[in-house]
Amino acid sequence: MSSEFDRIIDRDPKYSFKWNRYKGRDVIPCWVADMDFAAPESVREAISEFNQQGVLGYLKPEEYEEGRHAIVDWIEYRHGCRIPEEWIVWMPGVVPGFNIACRAYSEAGDSLIVQTPNYPPILQAHKNHQLESLAVPVLQTDSGAELDFDLIEKYAARSRSKMMILCNPMNPNGKVLSPESLQKLGNICDKHDVILVSDEIHCDLIIEPGVKHTPAFSLEALQKRSVTLMSAAKTFNIAGLGVSFGVIPDAGMRRRFAKAANGLVPWANVLGLLATTAAFNGARQWHAELLDYLHSNRVLLKRAVDSTPGLEMLCAEATFLAWIDARGLGVSDPQLWFEERGIGPSPGADFAAQGFARINFACSKQQLQLISERL
Ligand SMILES: Cc1ncc(COP(=O)(O)O)c(C=O)c1O
Repeated sequence: MSSEFDRIIDRDPKYSFKWNRYKGRDVIPCWVADMDFAAPESVREAISEFNQQGVLGYLKPEEYEEGRHAIVDWIEYRHGCRIPEEWIVWMPGVVPGFNIACRAYSEAGDSLIVQTPNYPPILQAHKNHQLESLAVPVLQTDSGAELDFDLIEKYAARSRSKMMILCNPMNPNGKVLSPESLQKLGNICDKHDVILVSDEIHCDLIIEPGVKHTPAFSLEALQKRSVTLMSAAKTFNIAGLGVSFGVIPDAGMRRRFAKAANGLVPWANVLGLLATTAAFNGARQWHAELLDYLHSNRVLLKRAVDSTPGLEMLCAEATFLAWIDARGLGVSDPQLWFEERGIGPSPGADFAAQGFARINFACSKQQLQLISERL
């Protein structure tokens, strides 16, 4: 049976960061985390309807009640907890969100704990705020990956460690922290007075059956010391609309966050607010079908990667990103190896992991087939 995700959409490189990189070359772009699927119909309709009136003026996010209701309902539907609306803070993106948090909760010379490998802007955030980065390599385990709690605790105990940015589900390896692991981390943060900023942008993209995401704000130990950053951007493919939100349970932390953003960070834009609301309220079926499609894509890609000598793919529990160990190829530049075969992944070096590559598999089965053949 064909699916709407099978539809091939010709993305004009002029309007696509992803497709522009290999413009004019026979290389399939599978790097940046942006899907080749159209956003759900509810989202496209909401934007068209708004455009009918033609005025694109200001909409103050805090006054947009429907958006807050949509977030509260969606979080309850997906993650089983009903949050008070006042915990929500709209932002124009998750990256601005964790950078604002650095500004709000640390001072130059403080230390910032981050896991590695990691999403490049998280690895670089310390430089924007004159912080020292304390990198904690993720441990490889039978279940995929786990945080190194001993090292995190050692770093958290230092007097200048004020904050950790967590990426959960993890980008690039797609691991979802278990409730027990998050609890352990919460206890460490609580004990050593460290604020946890949890980037959960991929939390609604869990493709492994039976795996559940635990949001940071749902833990008692973290309610006075956490900022959870979420967004509809990845899940519903609306990243170009510049919108996300933070969930900050503690009122004092919300005030500090707002103060740090004041005058520097614009309001989330009106189309982003409408799109998030329409996605959360009107695309549950689309979302369920998307997860099935991504799961079957992951299975297909894993088969192709694992049958290629020198490559091994980790089994992502979440995200549409395959983390590939290419060290077995024995080549000095795995990125070049892929590009010579007409495949354009993200280089592992960008995530602080030489010898790895990340392939975005959020594309039609036909395109995935082509990627597999090229391998
Ligand atoms: C872990 C993570 N955080 C944040 C972002 C980007 O967030 P935004 O575009 O809302 O700033 C990405 C995009 O790939 C991501 O993977």
